[in-house]
Amino acid sequence: MNESEDSLKKAVLFLRNEKLVALKTETVYGLACESGSSKAIKKVYNLKKRPLFNPLIIHVNSIDLAEKISVINDDSRKIMEEFWPGPLTLILTRKKNNLVHKFAVSGLETIAIRIPSSEFVLKLISKLNKPIAAPSANESGYISATDAAHVVDSFGEKVDLIIDSGRTEYGVESTILDMTTNPYEIKRLGVIDYKTIIKKLGKKVKNLNFKEKRPLRPNSPGQMLKHYAPKTPLRLNIDKPNLDDAFLDFGNKNTISHQPTLNLSKSSNLKEAAFNLFYFLRKLDKYSKKRIVVAPIPDQGIGKTINERLKRAAS
Ligand code: TXA
Ligand code: MG
Repeated sequence: MNESEDSLKKAVLFLRNEKLVALKTETVYGLACESGSSKAIKKVYNLKKRPLFNPLIIHVNSIDLAEKISVINDDSRKIMEEFWPGPLTLILTRKKNNLVHKFAVSGLETIAIRIPSSEFVLKLISKLNKPIAAPSANESGYISATDAAHVVDSFGEKVDLIIDSGRTEYGVESTILDMTTNPYEIKRLGVIDYKTIIKKLGKKVKNLNFKEKRPLRPNSPGQMLKHYAPKTPLRLNIDKPNLDDAFLDFGNKNTISHQPTLNLSKSSNLKEAAFNLFYFLRKLDKYSKKRIVVAPIPDQGIGKTINERLKRAAS
């Protein structure tokens, strides 16, 4: 269904009845359920084939609602007021109550929360009057969904309701900032970079170190290495594709007429490249070529997030 008063009502009803609703957020599509329903949460894990130890992000519509389920200090409030609604998820100490079932947070003492900026989702949460748990709407390990058609491709009829709101604005997931550690720590690169956060906070923040060796089951699960991966083997930093490759190009320095080629951004705009990244990877994956090869992407700004996603997808 498209966004409308009708689909909004239906979505609220479905969530109340422990069903799943796929929704667009500004980052990627989410597979949403009511966060207090153990039955609906189990459905989400089953459908995604997601390991149970990998907790979900809880979406709220106000700092007040966040405060019912987490401990908020001056720093976290400052960050919330600056960046919410928006593509930033905070990991905070969890307050136990029946608004969020322990399955949604994999039994952890911490909880990941954000206020997304989609008006439809905000209205939905306020009508439901409860938080929603929503991981990205893709099979665990596969490329995230940035369009309703991707959700259909991944899950089809198995999702009770899909709200088609077109392509997502950013095309990559939210930044995750852990505020339960000292110093605070970026756990996932995203749209907002850590320098912007430091500027606001006036405190040191540890950035994500992609090269750091990760335990198999870290305290921040889901940070597992292999992720976002197409079925076709992916190779990075390649300017000249082979005959049987699909090519994901960037910028305009390669003047080849290779087929198939998709260009993340002909004008070398990294924001545009992030917007297209998962969308084009899904498209190229459909050709079932021997490899998908990707041109070098500048490692600056949101380009760092793009490269981190690509490295995981290729590992
Ligand atoms: O942009 C986004 O964040 C999207 C949209 C739908 O909001 N959601 C998303 O969810 O990317 P998901 O489930 O694909 O990624 C959530 C990440 C996982 O890596 C998970 O391990 C981590 O958040 N996470 C959740 N709760 C956590 C916690 N308490 N401590 C550490 N990491 C946590
Ligand atoms: Mg995901």
